Amino acid sequence: MTRDTDGHDPGERETDDRAVTDGVPASEVSGGSSELRSDGGADAEGADDVTLDPWGSSTVADYRKLFEEFGIEEFDEVLGEVPDPHYLMRRGVIFGHRDYRPVANAMRDGEPFAALSGFMPTGDPHIGHKLVFDELIWHQQQGGDAYGLIADLEAHSARDLPWDEIDEHARDYVLSLLALGFDPEEGELYRQSDNREVQDLAFELGIEANFSELGAIYDFDGETDVSHMQSVVTQMADILSPQLDEPKPTVIPVGPDQDPHVRLARDLAARVRYFGVTEAYASFELTDAERELVGVAYDRREEYAEDPDRPRCVEAAEWLAEYETAATAARDAAVEKLENAGKEPLRPRVRFLDRNATEEAFEALVDAVDGEKRVYEAHVDAFDRSREEAEDLAREVELDQGGYGFLPPSSIYHRFMTGLTGGKMSSSVPASHISLLDDPGDGYDKVKAATTGGRETAELQRELGGEADECPVYELYAYLLAGDDDEFAKEVYDECVGGERLCGDCKEQAARLMEEFLAEHQEKRAELEEALDDLDIDFETDRRR
Ligand code: TRP
Ligand code: SF4
Repeated sequence: MTRDTDGHDPGERETDDRAVTDGVPASEVSGGSSELRSDGGADAEGADDVTLDPWGSSTVADYRKLFEEFGIEEFDEVLGEVPDPHYLMRRGVIFGHRDYRPVANAMRDGEPFAALSGFMPTGDPHIGHKLVFDELIWHQQQGGDAYGLIADLEAHSARDLPWDEIDEHARDYVLSLLALGFDPEEGELYRQSDNREVQDLAFELGIEANFSELGAIYDFDGETDVSHMQSVVTQMADILSPQLDEPKPTVIPVGPDQDPHVRLARDLAARVRYFGVTEAYASFELTDAERELVGVAYDRREEYAEDPDRPRCVEAAEWLAEYETAATAARDAAVEKLENAGKEPLRPRVRFLDRNATEEAFEALVDAVDGEKRVYEAHVDAFDRSREEAEDLAREVELDQGGYGFLPPSSIYHRFMTGLTGGKMSSSVPASHISLLDDPGDGYDKVKAATTGGRETAELQRELGGEADECPVYELYAYLLAGDDDEFAKEVYDECVGGERLCGDCKEQAARLMEEFLAEHQEKRAELEEALDDLDIDFETDRRR
């Protein structure tokens, strides 16, 4: 069955309709200190329950649930470790992450790292995609290897889009990415359909995933197209491909709907490794919970061991059996294992497990572990070295022996923008979003027609202030129009909630800024048309249908 490392089933449906009614204002979700925090849209009316479905609707009713139920971590907790964070990070638009720390550290230390994201070319690129474009570009500017890919296989198989349309949209996405500042000389842009290396990796990764697992994660069933499934392994290969030349921290900036993919990719990255590294105290294996308890027993050896330099498993078992803990099942299981080990001494060690190694690779590992070691059939125990050193050694041997040595990929998640008409932003409702290709005048009009967080009358607004946290127009400022200017975003917010700003003027200002942005963006696009020809991307496939 599924080996989702975080222990929950991402395909599971949450059907508790309270999710909608007792949603907290998302400004509280990230619990941040900055008043700039915008999030307007988090609890937009009509938002769905919390499910993370890559091919479903992209709304999240309650971001807090993503932390509790899916184990996504709060971005605020790593924010302080990011050198010169992007405004989307500072303003809590990027609200969550998985394992971003290694990326932040690499950035700080000038070590290699990568950022990769993909786009399904199903329509025009819009201001929601711009968030991800900006995230890729920022990571590139921070020194990362940046990858932008067109998920054309996915669009064709999961969305049934014909190739001529895909070609056209693909071109538009790439052009906007360039116009916003992606450097194609430094980074890489590709189409899934055109990347042999990615497809080869997808094939290999597919050997590690089976149908029941994909079924459990994505709700696939007997009716699911085989090609749709192939697009999943292709995405897994996309995500791991930056590490094909060398393992490096890699961040995948996406919306939280993509989290099931990220989890599977993290899982597969570990599954194709030659060796696993764990910690142990004796010859037998322990679960994490058991290990913690045995660790306590080891630390308290003075209290029970006849010779504290050589505590015996059976002595520890006796002591642990009386130890008070809420984790009784883990305790009892640990006690049993300790009892079975009898007089074996209890001694901390790191353990290299043979996962997928060839025989030669395992032997090479055994040779590479110097100092005291104990070699078993499918694992080697080593003493006097830290787990980190052990991980490094395992990876080194693996790479030397022709393995991938992947690090688990990291991710960052941004909030979905609220639709301009309230509710969700949807590519199928033109008035709800602004396309990067919209005529600047239309962009102006859409902003002018947008729903606001304003009060019924100007008088009430002066008295109570507007509800910036509920306002799609404020969101436009925070996510896009204020750019890097925190002062400006804060000013809009403060003036709004303080009742000094009225919606008419506020929208006028936003509409003008939007018009300017679109005009400028489209000018850059026009300038870069020719640069497209220099790219190594074919925008005219001769695929059928
Ligand atoms: N599945 C993504 C989407 O729906 C597109 C995608 C394909 C992707 N490969 C990726 C995203 C790799 C991030 C990383 O838009
Ligand atoms: Fe929204 Fe501006 Fe009105 Fe405040 S003043 S509610 S930010 S439109």
